[in-house]
Amino acid sequence: MGSTAWFLAQQEILRTKPLTHRTYEIWYREQLKDLAQVPPGGGVIEIGSGAGFLKELLPEVVTSDLEPGISDRVVDAQSLPFPDHSLRGILLSHVFHHIPDVRKFLSEATRTLVPGGIVSMIEVAHTPLAKLIFGKLHPEPYLPNVAEWALPEGKSSYDSNQALSWIVFVRDRARFESEFPELQIERISPLPWFAYLLSGGVIQRSLVPKLLVPTVGMLDRFGKPFSPWLGLHWVVTLRKKQPGH
Ligand SMILES: C[S@@+](CC[C@H](N)C(=O)[O-])C[C@H]1O[C@@H](n2cnc3c(N)ncnc32)[C@H](O)[C@@H]1O
Repeated sequence: MGSTAWFLAQQEILRTKPLTHRTYEIWYREQLKDLAQVPPGGGVIEIGSGAGFLKELLPEVVTSDLEPGISDRVVDAQSLPFPDHSLRGILLSHVFHHIPDVRKFLSEATRTLVPGGIVSMIEVAHTPLAKLIFGKLHPEPYLPNVAEWALPEGKSSYDSNQALSWIVFVRDRARFESEFPELQIERISPLPWFAYLLSGGVIQRSLVPKLLVPTVGMLDRFGKPFSPWLGLHWVVTLRKKQPGH
């Protein structure tokens, strides 16, 4: 991850795999729903945009990445180059679990968000199927049993722990709430999983011929009740509390 070749390959996948493209669009629309709840005033930044296409749906967003040349700005999630109380939304898709020290990111989010502003992130879920797929079949690690939130010393953003959102916001929720009392966990909602599974995501070949894409997309609806066991991703929304709450 991080090389120009990696970025171009991801861009090509999102352009040529309609089911993966569709899934991303569903994820982005969840983030837009979160943003719609925030009163106007303040900027919106996407962190770790990579080859994503959020800007097509939200032209006002400032896209950013650690890597130069692939988005509007170069930004490290651990040190946000924005004034206090200047952002209404911070959006991330598959980035939180790459941040070497998420405490630094969460402190920076607290500092830069306006009261009522949100962090909305698409992340890997923690269901039996997610554990199987991301723990056994995916090249990045999924380590739900590590005690620490930060990646071990010497690990860079291109390493990861895909179980991190579960660790911080579910397993260690009480610790999160005591360390970041200004950030409220507003929702952890499962996302459609069936079409993504068949799409092969951004790694595997799609298992679905283009012709069947609309049909498979429709089947997402029937997969919803099985999300607690088979869901692969969720959207985690944090809201900065209003003063006095
Ligand atoms: C798995 S990719 C996700 C890309 C895109 N958001 C998507 O959903 O396809 C993770 C991205 O986060 C970026 N990244 C990793 N660590 C970061 C950090 N500390 N700050 C900002 N971006 C980071 C990487 O350069 C990469 O583009």
